[in-house]
Amino acid sequence: MGRLDNKVALITGGARGQGEAESRLFVAEGARVVITDVLDAEGENLARELGEMATYARLDVTDEDNWDRVISDLGPGGLDILVNNAGIALMASLLDATLDHYRKVIEVNQVGTWLGMRAAGRAMRDSGGGSIVNISSIDGFHGMPAMTAYASSKFAVRGMTKAAALDLGSHGIRVNSVHPGLIDTPMLVTGGQEVRESLGKLAETFPVGRLGTAKDVAQVVLFLASDESGYCTGTEFVVDGGLIAGVTFDT
Ligand SMILES: NC(=O)c1ccc[n+]([C@@H]2O[C@H](COP(=O)([O-])OP(=O)(O)OC[C@H]3O[C@@H](n4cnc5c(N)ncnc54)[C@H](O)[C@@H]3O)[C@@H](O)[C@H]2O)c1
Repeated sequence: MGRLDNKVALITGGARGQGEAESRLFVAEGARVVITDVLDAEGENLARELGEMATYARLDVTDEDNWDRVISDLGPGGLDILVNNAGIALMASLLDATLDHYRKVIEVNQVGTWLGMRAAGRAMRDSGGGSIVNISSIDGFHGMPAMTAYASSKFAVRGMTKAAALDLGSHGIRVNSVHPGLIDTPMLVTGGQEVRESLGKLAETFPVGRLGTAKDVAQVVLFLASDESGYCTGTEFVVDGGLIAGVTFDT
């Protein structure tokens, strides 16, 4: 028996990285998965590889009409789980960043998550409940250099998760946020290979002593998507190898 048997899940940004790992794990646990992204070729290939339990649909999370189309294509009662995973991490120091840069990050990470919660919330209300998992970041708790836009968006995701949990609880819908640390996906090379190398070195100082994998995060998302987390809502799950637990030194 799978942990997600008879459930339908929609995963945004599902074509690669953490979204891909979630798509694979959810199918392995018995869910029917709608992989969505703006990377059509990657998404279609992944859906083909995963077989009849997976389909691909193009969904730009910033586009309200896209959300309406994809959710209505699922039909009545057709959605149990939404993973708001799509995100971008453009790096620019505050003094060099443009307003366009700031708005682009907010639009995808923050507005996209809000649109997803609203669209899925309406569908789940009509069918008796569900689980929404919002992917924030440790940057929803603290700052990082050259990431003012990203941190703004991820703090916002953490906050809107709690407010949405209050709005949706009476409809049987749970909403939680996941806060990955440094996860080894294509996003980690946004600042170039050198930044990736230096983050890898930094990770050796964490309690767990390594970068995270997409699967490390997917396993926590699976728990929140499943009925096993039935008493968890409006709360935060950090998956960071101990990064924000504190600084360490020789004693
Ligand atoms: N990698 C990390 O270290 C890290 C750390 C903390 C949080 N996160 C968050 O985890 C989530 C997944 O990131 P990842 O690490 O897998 O990175 P990734 O870059 O591999 O994946 C992000 C996915 O989002 C998709 N996407 C981007 N803009 C989109 C849009 N407008 N509409 C739909 N899809 C869009 C991309 O095409 C891509 O498939 C993101 O929300 C990210 O902010 C990542």
